[in-house]
Amino acid sequence: MKKLLTTLFIFTLHLSAARADVGMWIPTLIGKNIAQMQAEGLRLSADDIYSANHASLKDAVVMFGGGCTGEIVSSDGLVLTNHHCGYQYIQQHSSVQHNYLANGFWAMSKAEELPCYEHHKLSVQLLNYIEDVTDIVLAQTDTIANADARSKTIRERISEIEHNRQASSKYTIAEVESFYGGNQYLLFVYTEYPDVRLVGTPPSEIGKFGGDTDNWVWPRHTGDFSIFRIYADKDNNPAEYSASNVPFHPKKHLRISTKGVAEGDFAMLIGYPGTTNLYATSTDIEATQNIINPKLIELRTAKLNVMNKYQAKSEKVNIQYAAKNAQTSNAWKKWKGEVSGLRKTQAIEKKRAFEAELRSKSALCDTLLSEYEAYYANSNTTQTLIAYSYWTEIVQRGGIEALQYAYTYYRNATDDDTQSNISFKDFDATLSEEMACAVWSVYCKNLPKQYWPKSMVAWKGSPESFIHSLYANSVFANENKFNKLRQSKHWASKITVDPAYTLLTEMLVVRDALLGQRKNINRNPKLANFNHNYIKALMQAYPDSIFPPDANFTMRISYGHVAGYDADDAVSYSYFTTFDGIIEKSQTNNPDYTIPQRLSDLYKQKAYLPYADPLDQKLHICFVSTCHTTGGNSGSPVLNANGELIGLNFDRAWNGVMSDMSYDPTICRNITLDIRYLLFIVDKYAGATHLIKEMLGEL
Ligand code: ARG
Ligand code: ASP
Repeated sequence: MKKLLTTLFIFTLHLSAARADVGMWIPTLIGKNIAQMQAEGLRLSADDIYSANHASLKDAVVMFGGGCTGEIVSSDGLVLTNHHCGYQYIQQHSSVQHNYLANGFWAMSKAEELPCYEHHKLSVQLLNYIEDVTDIVLAQTDTIANADARSKTIRERISEIEHNRQASSKYTIAEVESFYGGNQYLLFVYTEYPDVRLVGTPPSEIGKFGGDTDNWVWPRHTGDFSIFRIYADKDNNPAEYSASNVPFHPKKHLRISTKGVAEGDFAMLIGYPGTTNLYATSTDIEATQNIINPKLIELRTAKLNVMNKYQAKSEKVNIQYAAKNAQTSNAWKKWKGEVSGLRKTQAIEKKRAFEAELRSKSALCDTLLSEYEAYYANSNTTQTLIAYSYWTEIVQRGGIEALQYAYTYYRNATDDDTQSNISFKDFDATLSEEMACAVWSVYCKNLPKQYWPKSMVAWKGSPESFIHSLYANSVFANENKFNKLRQSKHWASKITVDPAYTLLTEMLVVRDALLGQRKNINRNPKLANFNHNYIKALMQAYPDSIFPPDANFTMRISYGHVAGYDADDAVSYSYFTTFDGIIEKSQTNNPDYTIPQRLSDLYKQKAYLPYADPLDQKLHICFVSTCHTTGGNSGSPVLNANGELIGLNFDRAWNGVMSDMSYDPTICRNITLDIRYLLFIVDKYAGATHLIKEMLGEL
């Protein structure tokens, strides 16, 4: 059997991987990788990347909004991120009169920058420090035999640590996160800045060029960026929006390199990757590939068909549902890519082969894996997983928007943490009802009655007629009725008999049953803490390896090389795209590929020459590299060997998005917007030369 470890001893989790690009590394522990990084080209020290004592690269990276990354590129707190990360904030400032999604927006002075504190409240977080608290969290927990009691102890200790560190300021956020299935715990302390303003965005014809057709696909020509600015009070401290706030002065901002990149160049990325499942077993991969993803795709296809139909008919509805559609289609397409990438790389077979070796090395892993397989073999297990995903899709992600509103209302009433408003600004009753019908019939078709809410079980008609009745009678499906009710006396008690609210309470019963089932699994002593035990045993089986930790929305460093790849039989891709490709792809009758007239004029005039690549005199648009990324890494700064900004990460390439479970260095690529295309758009397309000066200094 082929030797498992790479020469660099980075554990690659399956047999085929020959290179070390896999991994999203913890900044404080980057010392373990730094020698290898330097051997591959990096000219910085570990301290230049993360230092607890002086300004380092990590101080220029922000967690942007709820799920993206951004980077600070000026001493006045200017932040770059993706267009798709800024999308909801751009959308909320857009209307048919001021359509910034369609036309772009450029603040020509600081006074014109648009605050984002209303409907979708935007804030950024800067990481202050990381501390290992494993010893405190896990002290003597091995002696607690009962799994519930053990996790309760762990949770209490975590809350206590968080509480103690949080106390210092209203804008300090302390979070303890679990690593390696709870074998390590790290504390992250952040400062939150709640006044962030929109500075500029290209029109969607640039920022979303290629649309959902090109999403998750290479070659790519999307100008996926938008620009924001962090504001602080006069003492540079975080503050809620106020007209008197001033631009924030960061400890560190990134330098931009306009020299470009070449094949094989070292590339590194710092950001906030969300979730990966690198220690998934072959059983998990099988479930994802053959059951979970196909069922989720089916539900979202039903949802998207309705949105697409109504959005094509009306500009108003198109704006209202722009962000919802983009969010829905993004994961939908990713799930498809994941299935196809897992198949193409034979991920299940490879993982099985790896597990065969592991089982022969570790008796404990052998037992654990067998128990786990038996648990999945039970059809209840997979059905529960599907039901749980469907619950989230329908109630939380707006499959049935009336139910989503009822849920928001319920959470506002019961949970101090949520303060989201119920706003009908982006709601179209006709679309919403038809979408709910489509989604609900998939729910009822794919799940047995034990997962249905009570009133659906009792309902005599079709799933569609059930929804029609809901939409006809619920205030959560009708803005006027909702507002009227809110003005009436005793409205709060009236709301509790609303049909959507009633349905929600029934769905909560369904959810609790699902959670209960999961708990029962955890009470099963053989499966309790499976991840914890399995990863621990696996690490013991390979004592000389460095193991990549799964992503969990904490700051990570990924590194690799700029590199094209062989995508399919007889299909090879080069590592960069150019302006020529935008012109070639452009079409007048396909909304995904229309471009602004001004962009083609600038192309003809060769106005891009100042930003062109010195070698080919072309404007480079995007490039690919082997850095390991996932959702959340969007907007992450991609840096060269000197730590200079060469681009903004925004996507991954088709057939490679299974890297969340199974990284394959031959086809997994992250897609980066070349910083020179961004500069060209800001300078020549928008004429926002003051921003160029701010980012690059006097030219
Ligand atoms: N696939 C990228 C990521 O997961 C970009 C998505 C936005 N673009 C789009 N066409 N929907 O977020
Ligand atoms: N597009 C993703 C994001 O928004 C990045 C990825 O999944 O590769 O974070």
